[in-house]
Amino acid sequence: MRGVESNRMAEKTSFHMTPDEFRRHGKAVVDWIADYYERVESMPVLSRAKPGQVREWLPSSAPAQGELFEVMMKDVENLILPGVTHWQSPNFFAYFPCNNSFPSVLGELLSAGLGVQGMLWATSPACTELETRVLDWLVDVMGLPAAFSSSQTGGGVIQDTASSSSLCALLAGRERATRYASNQLGCDGRLVAYTSTQAHSSIEKAAKIAGLGRENLRLIEVDERFAMRPEVLEARMSEDRKAGRVPCFVCATVGTTSSNAIDPVPAIGRICRDAGVWLHVDAAMSGTAALCPEFRYIHDGLELADSYCFNPHKWMFTNFDCDCFYVADRKALIDTLSVLPEYLRNQATESGAVIDYRDWHIPLGRRFRSLKLWFVIRHYGVEGLRYHVRRHVELAQRFASWVRDDARFELAVPAPLNLVCFRHRGGDAINQKLMERLNQSGDLYLTHTRLDGRFTLRLSVGQTQTEGRHVERAWRRIREEAASLEGSRDSPA
Ligand SMILES: Cc1ncc(COP(=O)(O)O)c(C=O)c1O
Repeated sequence: MRGVESNRMAEKTSFHMTPDEFRRHGKAVVDWIADYYERVESMPVLSRAKPGQVREWLPSSAPAQGELFEVMMKDVENLILPGVTHWQSPNFFAYFPCNNSFPSVLGELLSAGLGVQGMLWATSPACTELETRVLDWLVDVMGLPAAFSSSQTGGGVIQDTASSSSLCALLAGRERATRYASNQLGCDGRLVAYTSTQAHSSIEKAAKIAGLGRENLRLIEVDERFAMRPEVLEARMSEDRKAGRVPCFVCATVGTTSSNAIDPVPAIGRICRDAGVWLHVDAAMSGTAALCPEFRYIHDGLELADSYCFNPHKWMFTNFDCDCFYVADRKALIDTLSVLPEYLRNQATESGAVIDYRDWHIPLGRRFRSLKLWFVIRHYGVEGLRYHVRRHVELAQRFASWVRDDARFELAVPAPLNLVCFRHRGGDAINQKLMERLNQSGDLYLTHTRLDGRFTLRLSVGQTQTEGRHVERAWRRIREEAASLEGSRDSPA
């Protein structure tokens, strides 16, 4: 038998999928995805797979011979889907959204189809120039500071994640503070960075990767709304300077992960300007709100920032991954990250007339991510995007008002945009149980945080298909489960 198979293999001169096969299977996959979106609402949002279960369903070794595409798609349905948590379900209210849209998926498909690796302008001019153009559009439509535009001193670049953007910002801040000496000699242990106790964990990771060391990241206290206290930042910087340390980086957050707190960027920015310290503003989720003029206040003071990022892959209908990172002075970033080996030298680069985005982030290689963002912006138009963002905020605000009006519940903090932090007044245990029951039911998915040490539920509205009826149902289910828990708490054991 083996001999027959190897003879047959020897006869084959290609194992590639033909364009005709691709056409056929590609259409089937697009149909599958469209069907998925039509049925995802009825699926349990949180996967019920047990640890190791999906792996066990899969063969322990790779197939020696190629398999039929139809068989693979059956396995997607039967083996993969049960292990998927449905981030694109309209009943997904957990974490922050990671939303998506059909134009984005099609842009992603095109990007994969073109298979461009856009590390240099010369390796695909359109990959670079579309990205520059689309990121400049966003400066305009989100009212970002003009310095972030490529026509001025700065510019934008698409990164994989906000974590990468914050790391790049920290590296640039580190280099500016040491006049590029730490790139040459390494860090000497004196550099210090600052962020609030509520900042995303990626800032701590960046401090570790950038060689500052966790102990040289100061977590600044927050006020009653969980926003950074600028006077504490100023005092800590001054103490550090007196002790011979070198403050090099501050990260302010617009929309913290826990509670959507907005740090006072104008005050923080002034402190950083006076001290000559790099200010990065992380608006990973909430930045998208600035599409709507009425929410632009969240970016007050941004003109004082050296860098800024937000994630269209969270709330701007663009599938993961897509983070927009802006700097006010591109030279500082490029001087920090640029390394030019002989094999990358080319005329366009030498001419100085082009952008080589490889100098704007950590990896050398880069995908054609701007295609999906371009498709999204062109499909919806700015007004279409604004419409849906406003709708999400409106739904979250409606939910917040129901919480406020129900004596059994309370808001943990005011909800500025599309995240509502709330809890049952019955204490941590009942809130935890409530969340577990809701998530196990599959009807919706929400997650928690701790605010002032108290277990707090988070309901984050931002999935593309979420409508009023989904938020209404979520609130109904929350109240039902709460009533049942209250009943079992009151009844004798
Ligand atoms: C404020 C903030 N910053 C950074 C991140 C990390 O995002 P990414 O996964 O793009 O690194 C998050 C994720 O939720 C976030 O909320």
